[in-house]
Amino acid sequence: MSVEMSREISKRRTFAIISHPDAGKTTLTEKLLLYGGAIQLAGTVKAKRSKKFATSDWMEIEKARGISVTSSVMNFPYNGHLINLIDTPGHQDFSEDTYRTLTAVDSALMLIDAANGVETQTKKLFEVCALRHTPVMAFVNKMDREGRDPFALMDEIEKTLGIACYPVTWPIGMGATFRGVYHRMSNQLLIFEKNADRARPVALKGLALDSPEVVAELGEEMTQSLIAEIELLTGAGDEFDRQAYLDGKLAPLFFGSAVNNFGVQTLLEALIDIAPAPLKRVANEREVIADEEQFSAFIFKVQANMDPSHRDRVAFMRICSGRFERNMKSFHVRLGRDMRLGRPTQFMAQDRSLVDEAYAGDIVGIHDPGVFRIGDSLSGGEALHFTGIPVFAPEHFARVVLVDPIKSKQLSKALDQLSEEGAVQVFRPAHSNDQYLGVVGPLQFEVVLYRILAEYGVQVRFVNLPYGVARWITSAKAEKLAEFIQANSQNVCYDQHQLPTILVDEPWRLRLMEERNPEIQFSATSEGPGMAR
Ligand code: G4P
Repeated sequence: MSVEMSREISKRRTFAIISHPDAGKTTLTEKLLLYGGAIQLAGTVKAKRSKKFATSDWMEIEKARGISVTSSVMNFPYNGHLINLIDTPGHQDFSEDTYRTLTAVDSALMLIDAANGVETQTKKLFEVCALRHTPVMAFVNKMDREGRDPFALMDEIEKTLGIACYPVTWPIGMGATFRGVYHRMSNQLLIFEKNADRARPVALKGLALDSPEVVAELGEEMTQSLIAEIELLTGAGDEFDRQAYLDGKLAPLFFGSAVNNFGVQTLLEALIDIAPAPLKRVANEREVIADEEQFSAFIFKVQANMDPSHRDRVAFMRICSGRFERNMKSFHVRLGRDMRLGRPTQFMAQDRSLVDEAYAGDIVGIHDPGVFRIGDSLSGGEALHFTGIPVFAPEHFARVVLVDPIKSKQLSKALDQLSEEGAVQVFRPAHSNDQYLGVVGPLQFEVVLYRILAEYGVQVRFVNLPYGVARWITSAKAEKLAEFIQANSQNVCYDQHQLPTILVDEPWRLRLMEERNPEIQFSATSEGPGMAR
């Protein structure tokens, strides 16, 4: 490894924000960009984004294309570092996309609304992080509003999510009496200014806890209760254990108000100080360290491109090791051949730019003439298969009915391509020639229906199926698996990689099956064929 490469890689921080809709992700993203100097005025990203879109809006976006693509990955420099922030779809029906995006980051920022606490979508997304041991830091937003007691919130996070918290900052008051936070690592009081110009970064006023100005600023009573609370925290907890954070066992906790720019800079500083630089990645064959000389990457997202008539796509790769250069050749492991990675692009809010070079930790969009699938690995020639880029079990199912039977070939093509892109999962039941589609969120069905017609000229109908749970089934004993499939053939399907999957209506039925068939493994995620299980 070269010194230059190690330096470049150690500068990088690649993360995503996870949250429930409305917690303030768009606002926080924008403020991070503002503080990173990537945009000049707040209000520019949000205005152009469709937030709580209905399907029809999404279709408009799809027609215009580009918006969802261009806002996917943002990178900006901060204090000599390079931050890669991967955006995730706001609508929970597209959470599968979000789950996959989380495979491409080294850490996550969990955003929590101070009044609502841990909400369902946050919990789901956190579980995906926990599955992967992704380090998570938490930001409690909207402290300028009446919310829950901070001790109660911390307790809720710890109990609901099963992760210990270490408050790095601690709030002073809330709502109308919110006065700022105490930063436990720098021992400074950061004062919240109510009338801050929200469109621009605000310089913070920092005070030492024992300085006489504190009482002048907060008053006697508030100062005393702050001191008591800090003592309580110090008495209750250990020192900040960075390793526990890196292992996904401890969440550094921050409080602030994104819309008021308060706490944003503290978060950026924490990202640089404590969030991990690009981590090693596991391939079937071996572990791949970020500052290895050899270039390697995996594809975690494939997005159909702007021009439906050309049907070209953008494949997003996460670079795992080495250095990427424009026009360089790389080894496409699944296809077993070298290929040039065309039009490497990075995205910044609405703008895209060609990339000359990139390093481990970076996310680069490459032109995809139809050769990439989610989970594909690229390397400098070595047969590396990166693991941990799973497909998640769908929760909604429909049977496809072709309106014009002549178009069955086009339909196959559409379904192949849409499933490669991860827009939908396709299953074939063991007992018939039907085609079943599975999605995590029902809105995905509408989008797929629209796209099959708009992009492939095929009219289909979807008939809802009464299933709600899918599990990939495996067994160490082939004959046991065969027996199980035989006995449950009405409910067994094969996914796009011909892997057997069982579909049932309710979770309790699955539990019963699990109890009665101890030699069968039921898995909620699949890594496709040829992957280590
Ligand atoms: P999302 O992407 O997570 O869905 O959330 P978004 O940023 O759109 O924020 C949801 C709402 O919460 C917005 O209000 C936003 O202004 C507000 N918000 C974000 N951060 C804070 C904060 O620190 N304090 C307070 N009080 N509100 C905050 P909205 O009324 O839905 O939209 P808008 O009219 O303000 O744009």
